Amino acid sequence: MSRKIIVTSALPYANGPIHIGHLVEYLQTDIWVRFQKLCGNECLYFCADDTHGTPIMISARKAGISPEEMINGVRKEHKEDFDGFHIQFDNYYTTHSPENKQFSELIFKRLNEKGSIVKRDVEQAYCENCKMPLPDRFVRGVCPKCKAEHQYGDSCEVCGTTYRPSDLINPYCATCNTPPVMKTSQHYFFRLADYEQPLRDLMAGGYTQQSVANKLDERFSAGLKDWDISRDGPYFGFKIPGEEDKYFYVWLDAPIGYMASAKNYCDRNNLDFDALWPGTNSGRGGEGRYELYHFIGKDIMYFHALFWPAMLLASGIKTADRLFVHGFLTVNGEKMSKSRGTFIKASTYLKHLNPEYLRYYYAGKLSDTIDDIDLKVDDFINKINSEIVGKFANLASRSVPMLTKNLDSWLGRLDNEGHELIKKLVTMADQIVSDYEKLKYASAVRMITSLADEANRYVEQKQPWATIKTDPEMTRTNLTAIVNAMRILTIYLKPILPKFAENVEKLLNIEPLRLADLEYTLENRKIENFERLAERIDEKQVIAMIEESKAVTPDSGQVSQATSIEPIKPECTIEDFAKIDLRVAKVKTAERVEGADKLLKLVLDVGGIEKNVLAGIAQAYKPEDLVGKIVVLLANLKPRKMKFGLSEGMILASGPGGKDVFMLTSDPGATPGETIH
Ligand code: 2FM
Ligand code: ZN
Repeated sequence: MSRKIIVTSALPYANGPIHIGHLVEYLQTDIWVRFQKLCGNECLYFCADDTHGTPIMISARKAGISPEEMINGVRKEHKEDFDGFHIQFDNYYTTHSPENKQFSELIFKRLNEKGSIVKRDVEQAYCENCKMPLPDRFVRGVCPKCKAEHQYGDSCEVCGTTYRPSDLINPYCATCNTPPVMKTSQHYFFRLADYEQPLRDLMAGGYTQQSVANKLDERFSAGLKDWDISRDGPYFGFKIPGEEDKYFYVWLDAPIGYMASAKNYCDRNNLDFDALWPGTNSGRGGEGRYELYHFIGKDIMYFHALFWPAMLLASGIKTADRLFVHGFLTVNGEKMSKSRGTFIKASTYLKHLNPEYLRYYYAGKLSDTIDDIDLKVDDFINKINSEIVGKFANLASRSVPMLTKNLDSWLGRLDNEGHELIKKLVTMADQIVSDYEKLKYASAVRMITSLADEANRYVEQKQPWATIKTDPEMTRTNLTAIVNAMRILTIYLKPILPKFAENVEKLLNIEPLRLADLEYTLENRKIENFERLAERIDEKQVIAMIEESKAVTPDSGQVSQATSIEPIKPECTIEDFAKIDLRVAKVKTAERVEGADKLLKLVLDVGGIEKNVLAGIAQAYKPEDLVGKIVVLLANLKPRKMKFGLSEGMILASGPGGKDVFMLTSDPGATPGETIH
C-alpha cells in the first residue's frame, strides 16, 4: 500500500538570495520527495519564505521600501532559483499569511491555557535614533574580555566569549552608530521545561539522528530555560493578541509556517487539513494518516528539536515523525567566501552550469549524518565529466544513434546475456531504494555508477561498432540490452536527475518512469531520434562563475552562512583625518599568542622606533612568512592594553576577516618610518 507523506525544508529568510550553501538542504529534500513519488507514494513538499523579524525590517528600510514589498520581491526570486534547480514544491508560501497568523494565535492561546506562558521584565538595548529595540546582533562594541572592537552584542568573534549586549564596552547601534540606552520591557516567555519529559520521550523514540540527540542531551542536562517569544515594536511580524506594540518573535511563527503552507495548499485543493496535520481543529493531535518529516541544517536543530515540538505537544498538534539534520557546505575545504568567489548565488550558478550537475554532485556526497559536505571544484568537474557524461550519457550515445541510423530505430528482443545483464542491474534495486529512503544518497550513487560500469563493460565486450558491419541483427539484440540497461539506470537516477530522466523518456518514447517499471523490459518497439543527454563541463565555465561571484556582495546579515557588511561609521572631518599618521614599518619579529588563535604579536621597526602590535591576522598569515615584510602602520593610535599585552598601533589590512585578511604592504624598497601621504 502506498504511503502518504508530508515533507518540509527550512524556510529561507526573505532578505537575501539563495546560495549554494542553502541548496544542500533543498536538493537533499527534493531528491527524497522525488524518490517517494518514484515509488508511487503520495508525497507533499511544503516550504515558504521566512518573512518576519528585525533584520528584514531593517533591510527593507535601507532599500527604501516597505517590508511587504521586499518580501514579495524576494519570494519571487527565491521561487525562480528553486525552479531553476528543479526543486518541486507542492506549495511555496510565505509566513506573512492569514493562515500563519491564525495558527500562531491558536498555538499561543493553547500554550497560555496550559499555563506555560509567563511574563517577565527584561532589560534590552534601545536605539533612540532608530527608535527601535536592538536585537543582540544589532548592537556592537568592544568585547568586555579581549577588548576587540566592533564585536556583536552576544559574542566576540576574536576570543569567542559570549555575553549580553549590556556587557559591551562603548556599545553602538549597528545601523546608525548611536550608543543605545537600556530599557526595561515586559516580555512573554514559554516555559520549555514544562515539556522536558515529553521531549525526552520524543527523542528516545528516534525523532532525530543519534548525534543530534546527544547534543540535545547536553541541553537537557543544563536545564531547559524559558524561551522569550515576544518582541517590542517596531517589529515586522504578528501582533500578540491583546497587546498594543508587542509581536511574536520570528522564531515562534517561522515553523508554524510549515503548517500554514500546508493549510493554504489544502484550501486551494479542497483537502481536509486536519487529515494531513491533525490537531488544530480538534486539539486531539494523534498519529494522523500522513507521515511528517522536517529537513533542516544543524544550525537550527534546537529550534526544531526543542521549541517547535514543545509548542506542538503543548497544543495537541501532531509533531514530526522525524527530523533529518544535515551539515553545512564547505567549498575546497573552507567556508564559502566572497573574496575567493565561492559564495555562489543560485542564480549565478544557473547562468554558467547545468543545475543537475550540482544535484548529482551533492547527492554523491550526502549521507544521513550531520557532517559537513565539501564541494571541491576540480573533483566536481571530474566527477560530472567522468560519471554523468562518461558513464550514463555515454550508454545512450553508444547505442541510440546506431539504432536510429542503421537499424530503423527499432529495438529487438533480449537474448539470454541481455537478460542476465538486466537482472544484475535490477537485483540491486532493494539496496538502492533502502539507501534513498535512509538518506544515504552517496551510497546509492556509488552503487548506480558501478552498475553503469557493468553496462559499459557490456558495450566494450559486444563491440556493436564492429558487429554492425557483419551481423546487424545480433547488434540490434545487444543494443536492445544496452538501451534497457540505460533505462534501468535512469529509473535509479531519476530523483537526482529529473531532466536527464525526462530526456531519456523522450528518447525512448515512454511514459514517465517509475520504480515499478523495473519489472518490464523495452522490446520490439520504436525509439526516437538521438539527442545528446549531457555536455562536458569546461573548466572555463566554472572559472567564469567564480569570477562573477567575486563581484557580488550579498546584502543579508540574516541568511545562514552569510556574512554582514560593516556599518559605515559617523562621518569624520578632514581635521580628524589629518590626525592619522600612517607609516612604513618593517616586521622585525612575529609570533603566535598563546590562548588567542586569531592574534599575532608583531614587533615593528618604524625607522628606529620599535612598536609592539597585536594584530588579528593569525588565521591569514604564518608568523614566519611575515618577518621582513614591509607593512602600513597606523603609528599614532593610542596604545591599548589588551588581555594579551599592550598594542601600540594597528597594521592596515582589508578583507572580511578570518583567513581572508589582506595586509596592505608598502613598496618593498620603502624605508621604515617613512610617512605615507
Ligand atoms: O535559519 C533560517 O534560515 C530560518 N529562516 C529557518 C526557519 S525554519 C522554520 F522554522 F521556519
Ligand atoms: Zn540606531
